[in-house]
Amino acid sequence: MSHLPKVHLKPSASEGIARRHPWIYRGAVAHSQGEMGDLVEVLLDRRPVAFGLLGPSDIAVRILGFGPAEDLGAVLSRRLASAASWRIPMARSRGVQAFRLVHGESDGLPAAVVDLYGSTAVLQLSHLGWIRNLDLFVRCLLEAVPSIRSVVLKNTGKHLPKEGLQEDVRVLIGSLDQDLTVPLGRVPQRVPVLKGQKTGLYLDTRDWAEDLSRLPLEGARVLDAFSYQGHLSLNLLALGAREAVLVEQSPLALSNALWSARGLGLQERVTLLEGNAFDLLKGLDQRGEKFNLVIMDPPPFAPSRRNLEGAMRGYRELMVRAINLVLSGGFVLFGSCSHAVSHDALLELALKGALDRSAQVRVIHRPAQPWDHPVSPQVPQGEYLKGILMEVDK
Ligand SMILES: C[S@@+](CC[C@H](N)C(=O)[O-])C[C@H]1O[C@@H](n2cnc3c(N)ncnc32)[C@H](O)[C@@H]1O
Repeated sequence: MSHLPKVHLKPSASEGIARRHPWIYRGAVAHSQGEMGDLVEVLLDRRPVAFGLLGPSDIAVRILGFGPAEDLGAVLSRRLASAASWRIPMARSRGVQAFRLVHGESDGLPAAVVDLYGSTAVLQLSHLGWIRNLDLFVRCLLEAVPSIRSVVLKNTGKHLPKEGLQEDVRVLIGSLDQDLTVPLGRVPQRVPVLKGQKTGLYLDTRDWAEDLSRLPLEGARVLDAFSYQGHLSLNLLALGAREAVLVEQSPLALSNALWSARGLGLQERVTLLEGNAFDLLKGLDQRGEKFNLVIMDPPPFAPSRRNLEGAMRGYRELMVRAINLVLSGGFVLFGSCSHAVSHDALLELALKGALDRSAQVRVIHRPAQPWDHPVSPQVPQGEYLKGILMEVDK
């Protein structure tokens, strides 16, 4: 038995432990010692079964390992090295400079995200245990990936207070290049680490650009709704599409999209529509505008099952709108980054949209989250990004 503070579980926790689920909910804890953020030993029936980080949210312990407790630095070093060992060669072989190095539970580092933009690492650490051991985390990261020159912490979001954390955005190592840019496919992108969304870019749709580039879209008119910085449609312009219309509420994202278009010499072929996409899309529809491809990639309307019903109403409106706005024989790419929305639910949505508009749709591809955002079967919640690419006949 280790010297660590102990968390004793109720017998009802045994199933989760047997399935090696890395979350211990508060209701499964009989009694516990230790301070929030401590590394703790987890006991079931008085026997040590796991070790992990103690936190104040509904998830009382984020498990780091099942078995005898280990030194936190040793666990971090091993997991970071393992995450880097296959991602860095894979990224290199694909010519990818921006990718997710650590994807939380899937990499055995719960509530920890590390995105790499060239030699800049951006961290999102949503657990007190990591923040209390920030120096150790960064040291192990630099050992695992010696090419990293700058490390930035970007802890933002509504989920932080329930983890006992506050917004915390700062440069930890090196300096942050205000003009940081990376290519996403053919498209140069500014990386607005501090003011942009996520860690700067949506890396999870990076490979969708390649999926779209196989469609026959020479001379096409493309609508990119909820575009962020528009890499999906700008990539198609670079390949010979005629026009891209970007719809987005963030002025910063749109001005960065324009910067990218200028870099490609394609700014004349881009139209930027800033505002609420629901209103702007309705306006396009009322004016009878049509597109060869409609990309619809809204934010997560259903962060949990509780909001699913309202979310599905929003998705349904957008699906019908997409089918209205696409030309017969054209394509719709519909994405959802809500874990609670399954692939089957997206199919059902497509069916309802098609019935509503008397259209025929064929699902030709189901894009998902890319290789650098892996899913652990123990934590299906990690599978959040789904899409359907459809051909539409009307
Ligand atoms: C999932 S992201 C899109 C990512 C983008 N497709 C990419 O690959 O980079 C959703 C985007 O929708 C924008 N957004 C959220 N609600 C919106 C609304 N009501 N109207 C317009 N844009 C909105 C957000 O600012 C965000 O950029």
